[in-house]
Amino acid sequence: MFTSDEIRQKFIKFFEDSGHTQRPSSSLVPEGDISVLFTTAGMQQFKPYYTAPENAVRDFGTKNIVSIQKCVRTGDIDEVGDSTHLTFFEMLGNFSFGGYGRKEAITYAHDFIKKELGLEISYVTFYKGEGSVPRDEESAQIWKDLGVSDVREDGSDVFWGPTGDSGPCGPTTEIYCKNADGVDVEIWNIVFNEYFCDGSREKLDKGEATLKKLDVLGIDTGMGLERLLTVANKFESVYETDLFNNEKTKEERIFADHVKTSLFITSDGVVPANTGAGYVLRRLIRRAVRFSKNPLAEEIKKIKNTYKNVYELDDKGEIEKEESKFRETLEKGMKEFEKGTDPFVLATTYGFPIELTEELAKEKNIQIDRADFDKKMSEHQKLSQTASAGMFKGGLANHEPATIKLHTAHHLLLSALQQVLGKEVKQKGSNITEERLRMDFSFDRKMTDEEKKKVEDIVNENIAKGLSVVRKEMPREEAEKLGAEMEFGAKYPDMVSVYFICETSPRRVASDPLLQNEREVIPESYISAEFCGGPHISNTKELSHFKILKEEASSAGVRRIKAILE
Ligand code: ALA
Repeated sequence: MFTSDEIRQKFIKFFEDSGHTQRPSSSLVPEGDISVLFTTAGMQQFKPYYTAPENAVRDFGTKNIVSIQKCVRTGDIDEVGDSTHLTFFEMLGNFSFGGYGRKEAITYAHDFIKKELGLEISYVTFYKGEGSVPRDEESAQIWKDLGVSDVREDGSDVFWGPTGDSGPCGPTTEIYCKNADGVDVEIWNIVFNEYFCDGSREKLDKGEATLKKLDVLGIDTGMGLERLLTVANKFESVYETDLFNNEKTKEERIFADHVKTSLFITSDGVVPANTGAGYVLRRLIRRAVRFSKNPLAEEIKKIKNTYKNVYELDDKGEIEKEESKFRETLEKGMKEFEKGTDPFVLATTYGFPIELTEELAKEKNIQIDRADFDKKMSEHQKLSQTASAGMFKGGLANHEPATIKLHTAHHLLLSALQQVLGKEVKQKGSNITEERLRMDFSFDRKMTDEEKKKVEDIVNENIAKGLSVVRKEMPREEAEKLGAEMEFGAKYPDMVSVYFICETSPRRVASDPLLQNEREVIPESYISAEFCGGPHISNTKELSHFKILKEEASSAGVRRIKAILE
């Protein structure tokens, strides 16, 4: 039985003995290449050396390098759970910047697999050529000369790279071995970097990027440690290796894989977020949570133990924080999903990444309108930006604490006026400074002293109750249906922010898992709901005593109240 430690050591020693120098793994967050989110291959940290091979000797004292690189690839995330696909893996690789060519690279790989590990090669592939890139007869011949008889030509699968938005790339030869089930598993990819591509792979495939021949042929190889261990030990799946705990079901496997990847990513400094690498991390953690009730902390402990001699792993509590946020909303969100709730609401209220909703929908054979989601999301983001930039209506002179308190008192006042004078009372305008609030409202006569007293009492009672003030973003139509107060004549966007003042503190659900705003479920009962950009204090007990200074006519059918908190 081969252990992971044994294979790592054998690999490094084999290449050191043949003139390579070991370089450490780089971070999973690529340095100096913003066009990729994660390190996906061993060659990434060496990208510049393929175009300037002379610098390798200057920087490393050698043209030939060997490394074991931490890699994250989420492109195959839907395949995770089968016997070979993982989102995190270690890539064993040897690299050369003008030190050697095809013959040596292929011979090293052949010898390591056959002589060092005693494995049989099932078959190998070579590039059949396309466009300006010729058929790789040379590689095919080298394999045949080494005694490998099953040599197969292949197309674009065996043209590798570039990573990111430009870089070295070239034809490859791949090595396949059989697992315990007799299934061929691709274990090693040997890339001959003969070209520089001035665009991404996507562009290259669309014919929108060009290849330029490099002066010096570069070698870039990558072998997945987990797959190699699987075939070397005649296992059926990567989960039988000592890098896993023999997970059997698809759910257990996804959980183990995603928690591991999350731990490695956070250990390299990524934290859950709504964009970029942080969003991938968020998705991984939430998908892990969806597939298992087991606490992630337990899994993290196991993973740390597995890698204790190899990598320093520490998520600084970030994973558990994200886990507990999502566990709170998952069940409720699942019920909402079953009810057919809009994916946008699932995302913003229940923290369901759209990819998760899409996955659930696929399982149920339901169609999701992704374009509609993207549109709502971008409006939502604009709205949040507007709110956080302080560009809101509501007549606030500034954001001083006293002004904010009076703003909340303003909402309480409108609600009390409607209670005393009737629901038809509508706000017509407002102006709030640090000293006082002013509200114009529709009403056609002077208020009596008793009415004013009653309004004051209601506001003060609500202050004393310690009511919660919560913000919720929702489609305008939904807010209108709830009867949320809006300013007369104002034009509102499709997505609006509504402030509720509610009797019972609603159970706090994931404080806006996707947008990090204050976010709550719609309270079941509330004394006030207003279209409003905020800001507000979070509990009415922060307000002092409310007092009406003046009630007077403003214009025909409109009254004006000036009030203070004392
Ligand atoms: N860079 C090559 C790969 O990742 C070896 O497959």
